[in-house]
Amino acid sequence: MSSAFKAGLEDVVVSTSDICFIDGKEGRLVYRGYDVNDLVEHSTFEEVVHLLWQGDLPSRKDLEAHRKALSATANRRLPPRLLGLLRALPKKTTPMDVLRTGVSALSAFDPDAADNSKQATYRKAVRLTAQMPTLVAAWERIRRGKAPLAPNPKLSLAANFLWMMSGKTPTPLAEQTFDVALILHADHEFNASTFAARVTAATLSDLHSSVTSAIGALKGPLHGGANEQVMRMVEKIKSPAVADAWIHKAIADRVRIMGFGHRVYRVEDPRARHLRRLAAELGRQVGDTSAVEILDIVARAVTGDKHIYPNVDLYSGAAYASMGIPTDQFTPIFAISRVAGWAAHVMEQHANNRLIRPRSDYTGATHLTYVPIDRR
Ligand code: ACO
Repeated sequence: MSSAFKAGLEDVVVSTSDICFIDGKEGRLVYRGYDVNDLVEHSTFEEVVHLLWQGDLPSRKDLEAHRKALSATANRRLPPRLLGLLRALPKKTTPMDVLRTGVSALSAFDPDAADNSKQATYRKAVRLTAQMPTLVAAWERIRRGKAPLAPNPKLSLAANFLWMMSGKTPTPLAEQTFDVALILHADHEFNASTFAARVTAATLSDLHSSVTSAIGALKGPLHGGANEQVMRMVEKIKSPAVADAWIHKAIADRVRIMGFGHRVYRVEDPRARHLRRLAAELGRQVGDTSAVEILDIVARAVTGDKHIYPNVDLYSGAAYASMGIPTDQFTPIFAISRVAGWAAHVMEQHANNRLIRPRSDYTGATHLTYVPIDRR
């Protein structure tokens, strides 16, 4: 075997894909040919989901049908026995573990569970994308000792999620901010969780298994889990007045600063700019901009001293916190958007499949003589 390998598969091209393009030098993110900045300005999450799954922007009629499917109570509702399963979990279970468990369990209730045809996978993608926000919100209510709220089919996916979490209709700014956050997180090429989904799909396994794999990969702090860690850092810093000293000490101590750096972007992640603006607007609306102020100081220091730039996870949490969302729900929120991308990639993988099975560069011994147990 050749000993040439790329640690972490850096820059290794695994497959062709029509779904998402990242220009890491220019800081551009493109879904199916459309710049994410244009989608943020003109589109909605539901429209972006259609774009990712069908390959193009929908007509008005197609969008209406697609919206209806994603918002139908029959698709958003959780099976009562699944709610029973959630109630049986220890209250301290983290929301990301609940989501992983819940998505896996949902396959047992899915009428298309055993069918991996293109049409059935599409139907399962609709249901899972509609159910995951309900699952995340239901756990939030259950762990606080409250009854889960029924989804409202009249609300967008963003507004309905915020409603099911708190029982309050979100302000227009909160709904719009959340919708933009969903658009920005919807896909990102062959990131770790999407790759995990594709590896699973490439064994000709099903959508629920692929998404369960992806959720496990997203959870880690080097990937989606970073947004929670950013907020823990803000909580530690506490005040903008001490942020500069705090971050310079962390840099001197060679601490890995969450919310910075990226395998592909060599400049600022284009998603960070939108999330910063929205976090600042929401902060002003609720009368507390301290998290964004702290993060701005941290960003100036990290970029100035280390030339490492903010990524998508730096400001998203500050926006969610202003909506009253607890920190450990930030990564599940990432997942309720990214399921759109995962599903698009599973469908693309199934449409042109080959098992993904790389090799390792073996560095262990090869010709040891077996030693019987009583002589070791
Ligand atoms: N803080 C401090 N130093 C950093 C950071 C950071 N956030 N990111 C990279 N570096 C430094 C590393 O120490 C390393 O320096 P060295 O060569 O002197 O040792 C160099 O930059 C390269 O870092 P790697 O870890 O090799 O880069 P890699 O491409 O493997 O990692 C990653 C990318 C995991 C995103 C990394 O930048 C990181 O750990 N960031 C913090 C976690 C985070 O925010 N993750 C979310 C990413 S976006 C997403 O997944 C949704």
